[in-house]
Amino acid sequence: MDGFLGSQVVHWQALFGRHDLPWQNTRDPYRVWLSEIMLQQTQVVTVQAYFARFLARFPEVHALAQAPLDDVLHLWAGMGYYSRARNLHRCAQDVMSLHGGVFPRTAQQLQTLPGIGRSTAAAIAALCFGERVAILDGNVKRVLTRYLGFADDLAQPAHERRLWELATQLLPSAPVLRDMARYTQGMMDLGATLCNSKNPACPACPLATRCVAKALGSPEKFPVKTRKLKRSAQSIWLLWALADDGAVWLSPRPTPGVWAGLYCLPLFEDRRELQAVVGQPGGSALKDLSPFKHVLTHKDLYLHPVLLRLQERQILPIEGQWVDAAQLARLGLPAPIKKLLS
Ligand code: ADE
Repeated sequence: MDGFLGSQVVHWQALFGRHDLPWQNTRDPYRVWLSEIMLQQTQVVTVQAYFARFLARFPEVHALAQAPLDDVLHLWAGMGYYSRARNLHRCAQDVMSLHGGVFPRTAQQLQTLPGIGRSTAAAIAALCFGERVAILDGNVKRVLTRYLGFADDLAQPAHERRLWELATQLLPSAPVLRDMARYTQGMMDLGATLCNSKNPACPACPLATRCVAKALGSPEKFPVKTRKLKRSAQSIWLLWALADDGAVWLSPRPTPGVWAGLYCLPLFEDRRELQAVVGQPGGSALKDLSPFKHVLTHKDLYLHPVLLRLQERQILPIEGQWVDAAQLARLGLPAPIKKLLS
């Protein structure tokens, strides 16, 4: 490894990377950790607003650790993947009880905390403490598999492990090593801004002269990852908020994910989350309706509708809006939701 990748990425980040995101320009691991957890499955624009609200409510890790879990879930409402919020809370409590309120400084130790996987641990250690460790999130996998022409199927754990090894070998050495934070941010920025899945902007890319996938003429074919065909099952709770005039509260589904881009009743991974997010608006009661099964290609969904009748169209603390009964038919709704509502 001759250092081309490291020096190109660092140089490019300084000139063209992102510098003004609210969690940048700080080496505070609490802020960096919070943002990295949010960014795992949520877009930057959405995270910005949630990040500001979380910091206003929980300015330090001890405030988050002391808060009731329901408060954290409530503040998380709308970002989905609520297991992140539960792990966030447990992680804050572990930082307090096991680490004296101070985040550990190495990726190895960070990785022992709830919700912090290998890549997130490395991101925090590199961004805050300059540790020489590789990250490998979805964006970086795209950059590296293309640069290397790595065509092995990442659905196989052995291939994924090999890519981790290569990511580690490609890390900068001295003198670029001083810029581990910039290198790490640069890899994320490249993947997020130029090296996107469908239309990579190769002419602007600092790695283009040595990118194998570009030379092959097919960067969008990388990374190679077949879908696991194992069927699974999942229970999901649906909040069916119904106003007296027949309007229903609908949320846009995040992309990627089940029913990406469609309007849908707000979904929850368990009933307690639904209850925590809704609270008891106007003293109204929740009514559990009969669950039903919906079959997706790789998954059986067990859907548990929970009805919330409201006299007025009050604003709910969940991303979304009231939709008139008349408008419902015209919206793209997932089939089982359409059936339920009709
Ligand atoms: N996605 C994951 N981590 C990120 C970061 N630090 N900045 C921007 N996007 C990200």
